Amino acid sequence: IRAEKNGYPHFMLKEIFEQPLVVRRILSTVNKNRDELQIEDIKSIDISWEKIKKVFIVACGTSYHAGYYAKFLWEEELPYFIEVELASQMHHRNLRVPDETLFITISQSGETADVISTLRKVKEKGFKVLSLVNNPQSTVARESDYFINLRAGIEIGVAATKTFMAELVYLGLLKEYVKNKLYKVKIDLDKWNMLPTYLENYLSNIKDQVFETAKKYYQKKNFLYLARGRNFPLALEGALKLKEISYIHAEGIPAGEMKHGPIALLDPETPVFGIAYKDDAYSKMINNLEEAKARRAPIIAIGNEKDKKLENLVDDLIPVPNIDPFYYPYMGVMVLQLFAYYVADLLGREIDQPRNLAKSVTVE
Ligand code: G6P
Repeated sequence: IRAEKNGYPHFMLKEIFEQPLVVRRILSTVNKNRDELQIEDIKSIDISWEKIKKVFIVACGTSYHAGYYAKFLWEEELPYFIEVELASQMHHRNLRVPDETLFITISQSGETADVISTLRKVKEKGFKVLSLVNNPQSTVARESDYFINLRAGIEIGVAATKTFMAELVYLGLLKEYVKNKLYKVKIDLDKWNMLPTYLENYLSNIKDQVFETAKKYYQKKNFLYLARGRNFPLALEGALKLKEISYIHAEGIPAGEMKHGPIALLDPETPVFGIAYKDDAYSKMINNLEEAKARRAPIIAIGNEKDKKLENLVDDLIPVPNIDPFYYPYMGVMVLQLFAYYVADLLGREIDQPRNLAKSVTVE
């Protein structure tokens, strides 16, 4: 077992550290050919992207968070109405969507029962389904009209990590691919190709600090993860990771909603974990963190290095380097995963096999 884990104490940690490699593997399938982006796994996807009006993304758990993130990413640049829904909620929705709707399902296992039933239901109604799945032999992969293999390799830790990264990367690449199809926009592949190396360096630079931060907070009983805009789905994912493996109560909250209720939870025993990079949500995030500080909540934040304002405001700043903001989300995700991992480890939890959870949920 030790060998399989390559010396890591848990599969989850091994899989967190494998992420740069997974991204490199994915990018090796992408090449620029006569200015047209080709992605090995999706070149046979003959979707008429110019005819689509709506994109409906359906998934569960961590995969849902990837889809939710993609909604923000895609709607900035693609001419579609994009909706994201939990597969379990789809049982109770009576859809009236345009015929030109493309369904996208995202699933690590490809065997999640709620995802399979949604897939079958919408296919029965005549819609096409594109799926992003980590297992090409799975039911979802086989039954979808179009399929992208996530290429993350087998993931053993119940808490999804590298498959989440693969989902984010493929959804980002797919956006570039569609942009290229619709507008002939050239893809900045150099930018993408730097990603694995940045992630690799970042992980080794940041891991000790994340561990030290986990040591300060692991005995707390409640955490609030705050973010805005496209970072909000990542806050949901950070909170989910913590819940799953440490059994600590954690919630992801859109920071602007704090004033409508959750702010009542704040006290010196309730750490706030904020995502506050210098992006378009920055100044509003700072306001929200100031409000949390006024309630004497301890604050951990992921933000930019040498951001003096943030440094003075928060108790622990876990910095990303001052590079293109394109890279921040991928880096931030790894911080959130590592933090959850170290907290759970300090608490002596069964990290790879948390109580009550299954890697693949085959019941509705
Ligand atoms: C289970 C797993 C989660 C996963 C979710 C969706 O709950 O424990 O890690 O995110 O299922 O799984 P899928 O295989 O469809 O991505």
